[in-house]
Amino acid sequence: MTQEQDRVVIFDTTLRDGEQSPGATMTHAEKLEIASLLDEMGVDIIEAGFPIASEGDFAAVAEIAKNAKNSVICGLARAQLPDIDRCWEAVKHAARPRIHTFIGTSPLHRAIPNLDMDQMAERIDQTVSHARNLCDNVQWSPMDATRTEEDYLCRTVEIAIKAGATTINIPDTVGYTAPRESAALIRMLLERVPGADEIVFATHCHNDLGMATANSLAAVEAGARQIECTINGLGERAGNTALEEVVMALKVRNDIMPFQTGIDTTKLMNISRRVATVSGFPVQFNKAIVGKNAFAHESGIHQDGMLKNAETFEIMRPEDVGLTETNIVMGKHSGRAALRSKLEDLGFELGDNQLKDVFVRFKELADRKKEIYEEDLIALMRTTTDPEEERIKLVSMRVVCGTEGPQQADMTLEVDGTESTTSQTGDGPVDASFNCIKALVSHTARLQLYQVHAVTEGTDAQATVSVRLEEDGRIVTGQSADTDTVVASVRAYVNALNRLLVRRKKGGTDKREINYKDVG
Ligand code: KIV
Ligand code: ZN
Repeated sequence: MTQEQDRVVIFDTTLRDGEQSPGATMTHAEKLEIASLLDEMGVDIIEAGFPIASEGDFAAVAEIAKNAKNSVICGLARAQLPDIDRCWEAVKHAARPRIHTFIGTSPLHRAIPNLDMDQMAERIDQTVSHARNLCDNVQWSPMDATRTEEDYLCRTVEIAIKAGATTINIPDTVGYTAPRESAALIRMLLERVPGADEIVFATHCHNDLGMATANSLAAVEAGARQIECTINGLGERAGNTALEEVVMALKVRNDIMPFQTGIDTTKLMNISRRVATVSGFPVQFNKAIVGKNAFAHESGIHQDGMLKNAETFEIMRPEDVGLTETNIVMGKHSGRAALRSKLEDLGFELGDNQLKDVFVRFKELADRKKEIYEEDLIALMRTTTDPEEERIKLVSMRVVCGTEGPQQADMTLEVDGTESTTSQTGDGPVDASFNCIKALVSHTARLQLYQVHAVTEGTDAQATVSVRLEEDGRIVTGQSADTDTVVASVRAYVNALNRLLVRRKKGGTDKREINYKDVG
């Protein structure tokens, strides 16, 4: 096997499949920042969005394409000519653009656009040829490939290759396949489809049964040379293959999986934190590679072994994934330059104005909390809002709670520069506070999720709160952190409302309102 054949291309779809996850919506600036981190980390291909889905998606893909330094920039398009044209308009700015077009080929997916097998075959030929006339780098995906009849899958893959596709992606759209089948499917396609040796096969696995990483690696062993994945495994339902897992598995077990990627693994931890922050989807503590506990050795027997020889219980070093020791990092006497430098170590590049705002909040926190950890700074960054998006601000609040109900909250909010005050009761302090927000800002959004996490240990720990709201199909997540859980809750709700106002103003079609299956 040549060196070239050992190279596995990493295709990141955090900004497309990941962002499709309800509530994971990122702002334009956040998308640009994540794309630049992916590019810097050595991701070969960034799927930056679905340009026809909304003006916002189009603008983000176009700008990411313009800014990209090394990565190929890819956009998604359904099997329709206007989708493909729109996708090309966005990605054409990249030094290395790619169009990714797809159609559902399984019996269940074929039934949706009401195309029979022959009509669909014709549509594939027409759309892939059209894409190839625009761009010399074209990826085609038979959605739900793992539940498509093998003969029909071979037929459609052959048509796409003949029409000019340079990469064929085999999605396990519903996360149904098992590693043995994932490998067999790639092997079968390589054996049966004429021209299969001329193109790259990709694997795109969803994690519904927790097998996405294993399925992706099995596909690579069988001959696939592109893995589609997302940071933290972000994605619809149980998510996609986690980039950090496949990359570290190939690195650590290179003895049995002799494949290389171009990823600088020391950047994994930072990007994981940034994606968790901007998407509002926290990383589970025991998540492989990037979880808070992935390198923690609590039990006496483990700690003893670790002190004698780290390899006793460690198969990779924390520094390999960019994890530095968590120490008390700052205190109330730390200055602005030290804060900037520490935040840069954590992967946050701040402009002067942003630093000014974060420094004020850092000082406030340091007044209340003696020891400031990295996690506290990360939580602080999570609460940083674009001032232009902050139409509603919390001015002050006071809550009465205890064993005698009803609990009461008094609150003053500033809305578009005008302050107003209310007092409301509720079933607990959070409920009373949320009732104040509802009384002061008229909206019909439904609370979909309310989640609280302690950032560090101790009773003075900050609480990070996520609030997800839904209004007319638009889903937004707001976040905040504070040593006072009720204040963090109110700020998270206000943050979500501000994001909703931005989305209302932009109007247009939401990505999730566009029907992915609508290809007729
Ligand atoms: O899961 C899937 O099938 C997809 C396609 C659009 C490639 O994300
Ligand atoms: Zn997918």
